[in-house]
Amino acid sequence: MKDSFGRAIDYLRLSITDRCNLRCIYCMPPEGVDWMPHNDVIRFEEIIRICRLMAAMGIRKIKITGGEPLVRRGAAYLVRSVKALPGIEKVTMTTNGVLLGEYIDALIDAGLDSVNISLDSISEDNFNRITRKENLAQILSAINRTCDLGLPIKINCVPLKGVNEGDIAKLAVLAKNGNMAVRFIELMPLGAAAALRPIPVDEVMSLLEKEYGSLSPAAVKPGNGPAAYYTLPGFKGYIGFISALSHGFCESCNRLRLTAAGFLKPCLSSDMYLDLRALLRGGVSDSEIEKAIAELVSRKPACHSFGGVQGRLNHSQKEMFRIGG
Ligand code: 5AD
Ligand code: SF4
Repeated sequence: MKDSFGRAIDYLRLSITDRCNLRCIYCMPPEGVDWMPHNDVIRFEEIIRICRLMAAMGIRKIKITGGEPLVRRGAAYLVRSVKALPGIEKVTMTTNGVLLGEYIDALIDAGLDSVNISLDSISEDNFNRITRKENLAQILSAINRTCDLGLPIKINCVPLKGVNEGDIAKLAVLAKNGNMAVRFIELMPLGAAAALRPIPVDEVMSLLEKEYGSLSPAAVKPGNGPAAYYTLPGFKGYIGFISALSHGFCESCNRLRLTAAGFLKPCLSSDMYLDLRALLRGGVSDSEIEKAIAELVSRKPACHSFGGVQGRLNHSQKEMFRIGG
């Protein structure tokens, strides 16, 4: 499946719930939000039908996200079901790790290929302050267990000015001792994040170099997304940087997103979507759905419309936990 700019679209991110068991300051208000009513959430059999059609159209990789995907019962069943679809090569998941220890065996058994774990601090006070919960020990033990079981891991940290500068070098230790990638993701000005300030990639890099020596570009890329990977002297794993705002990566964007409401979105930053839930529940045929998807793909924008102060204002009403991080 190619879009109108010649980009091959082979990657689908599936948000399976807007709910979460953490309340990260850049994502949600402390009291949580009004969750979507159950009936509005796209059902597993609907997701599987969409994925089957999209696999036939060229989707090869699926990432399951949320909210927090593991708060939805049957997440491992979904992994197994989409992994079994003809054409699907990789199924991965992004989780906050709180329930990972509980489900890791089932997920591996279901065929999960790798896991991304969001972790912004490994010091307890700061973790509690950022997530407004107290689950750090649980998450760290799930990371150890997952590593022991041999599942590839990427740790995702969002560096925030005045919040977790001091945690950056400590988080990198995970990539020193373990065969995992620790990635620093530039904050995007969506929802609650619009009130916070990102730490630019260059600053994160110099914090790391001060502690561990020079970063050198990695010879082999451990992932195929928009991250730039580096190594540090004596590190087993990789350090990655993802920066949507300061270094554009739209030229190589290969993804679509399905929200928990069943809306297919061609770009994180765009208002454009296709209401697949309505189509499916309206009894539309497979070929009509395929046609609608192809039409949406042909309208995928060239680049995101973030950036500048105006972008921040325009996008502050969109929320990552609804779109799928
Ligand atoms: N900007 C950047 N990353 C974000 N995440 C959630 N909200 C934002 C944001 N506004 C991250 C989470 C997680 C991933 C799914 O998305 O921390 O690592
Ligand atoms: Fe939950 Fe992820 Fe949002 Fe944190 S960033 S509250 S873990 S959905």
